[in-house]
Amino acid sequence: MSSVPAKPADLVTVNIDGKDIAVPKGTNVIEAAKLLGIEIPHYCYHPKLSVVGNCRMCLIEMGLPAVDPATKAPIMDPASGKQKVNWMPRAQIGCATNAMPGLHIRTNSPMVKECREGVTEFLLINHPLDCPICDQAGECKLQEHSTAYGRGYSRFVENKNVKPKRTQLGPRVTLDDERCILCSRCIRFSKEVAKDDVLGFIDRGSYSTLTCYPGKKLENNYSLNTVDICPVGALTSTDFRFKMRVWFLKETPSIDTESSVGANTVVWSREGVIYRITPRQNDAVNDTWMTDSGRLLYKQVRSEDRLLVAAINGGTSAYDMAMKAASDLLRASLSAGASGEVRIVGSGRSSVEEQFLTKKLAAALKAPVALVSRVGKGDGILLSADRNPNVRGALVTGLISALPSQQLTSLAADIDAGKVKTVVAINEDLAAADLTAAQLAKVSVIYLGTHKNATSAAAKVVLPTLTVFEKSGTFVNQQFRLQKFTKAVPGPEGLADDLVTLANLAASAGAGALPSDLTGLWSTLAAEAPVLAGLSYAKLPATGAVLDSAAWAGLPFVEGETLHFKPAAVPAAANA
Ligand code: SF4
Ligand code: FES
Repeated sequence: MSSVPAKPADLVTVNIDGKDIAVPKGTNVIEAAKLLGIEIPHYCYHPKLSVVGNCRMCLIEMGLPAVDPATKAPIMDPASGKQKVNWMPRAQIGCATNAMPGLHIRTNSPMVKECREGVTEFLLINHPLDCPICDQAGECKLQEHSTAYGRGYSRFVENKNVKPKRTQLGPRVTLDDERCILCSRCIRFSKEVAKDDVLGFIDRGSYSTLTCYPGKKLENNYSLNTVDICPVGALTSTDFRFKMRVWFLKETPSIDTESSVGANTVVWSREGVIYRITPRQNDAVNDTWMTDSGRLLYKQVRSEDRLLVAAINGGTSAYDMAMKAASDLLRASLSAGASGEVRIVGSGRSSVEEQFLTKKLAAALKAPVALVSRVGKGDGILLSADRNPNVRGALVTGLISALPSQQLTSLAADIDAGKVKTVVAINEDLAAADLTAAQLAKVSVIYLGTHKNATSAAAKVVLPTLTVFEKSGTFVNQQFRLQKFTKAVPGPEGLADDLVTLANLAASAGAGALPSDLTGLWSTLAAEAPVLAGLSYAKLPATGAVLDSAAWAGLPFVEGETLHFKPAAVPAAANA
């Protein structure tokens, strides 16, 4: 077998402000400077969008090593003993300059400084620095750059141009046009990433205005990403606008649970209340983007149908009493000696740790486990066809060995045949998975879930659980990437963590004492699930870890292609 050594990266050395740095050939100069801790201020440049050079904020001085035109021999500087540098006589834009051998850059020369002051003064001609009322205060590059690189005063004495305020570009995005600096990031994002070419500029000069094409709206499921990348306060989220200053908010890393993509997110909260969700950069999963629909999921925390208290036979109960009632039901079925009387419906929305405890519960009860699949239309970007965030977690933990189906057909048949006495439903509405009210009435249901539904209404015991924002754990996404989410806000008063509820249930079913904290669980998990060996919750990187998925390569997963995921070709036999 021949082993070809990997080709080393094509590195080139550039000199920025007197410091040499080796970077891959073609690296954008703004990014190369960043590696040295040097900021080249910019507005229109965005690492995930095309380069247009609109704003001129990134002006730098640039030069190349001098060579004799005739002989191509280096021209040396006798004073320094080094090769001379031919500096271009005018400033250049850094965003459209890529690293090439010997490139010299100055980011802080008098010429660069004067250029930045001029550009800032020009941008502020019609843009108000209305920071006390602007909703982008705290996140505005115009505010930051005008402080850091501006002249500090304006020579503009004419009347400012007054542009439209509070224009609704779509259902979720509001434009305050006088703040727009015409960087075109939002236009390029819509066209290049969201594949919805809906925005453009009309009119000229000071009258240039951002608008939607006639008859169109900015209403695609990615519209709020334009708010994230607008470098000034021109685009705002209609939902978040004026609700809270960002510097009051706590940032918690989390995962979008609406599909198996597992987009990385930040949950912004204050004093136990969530105000917004924004994307968190993970270039291997979601770049710096996420769906609008995923941003609204925090509303489930305080929705009216939230389950806030435990219940026994339809009457509210203390959590401990309900826990005891559930344990008694499970023990009764065990002491009857009729194994198989209990069935468990687990969830692809539960975390890896919850699925592991569910497996322990099922093993103690000798109860078959079913999961419900949830399938929608994939959009090819960051919403996949599998609307469960963690079906792969259930495979990895061994809770299931085959992909779930949308109906609980076999459970329904067993209930009809009188083989089932008790069903433990975890985070799933059995009625939504086609069980009838008559079938639910024939069994004792123990329901663990966050919201009211037909199953909670029919359940003998209800144990309310926490939303993803109120607990910590991990999910395995479509790439078999194990990713962690962290508790952002406390759960409703009096409720236990899902891990505690599941560990207690499992213990009452005879599984013995199980850890109900993440550290304890991971020591057991890593020992029992081979692909998790060597991993731990505490040490999992912020961008996750890709697991060895070879054992499940043949399964017919429903996902199509998304931003950073190409489904493996499923062998014909697996589909048969
Ligand atoms: S609205 Fe914001 S992102 Fe769009 S062009 Fe204006 S400044 Fe740039
Ligand atoms: S960032 Fe270079 S011109 Fe705008």
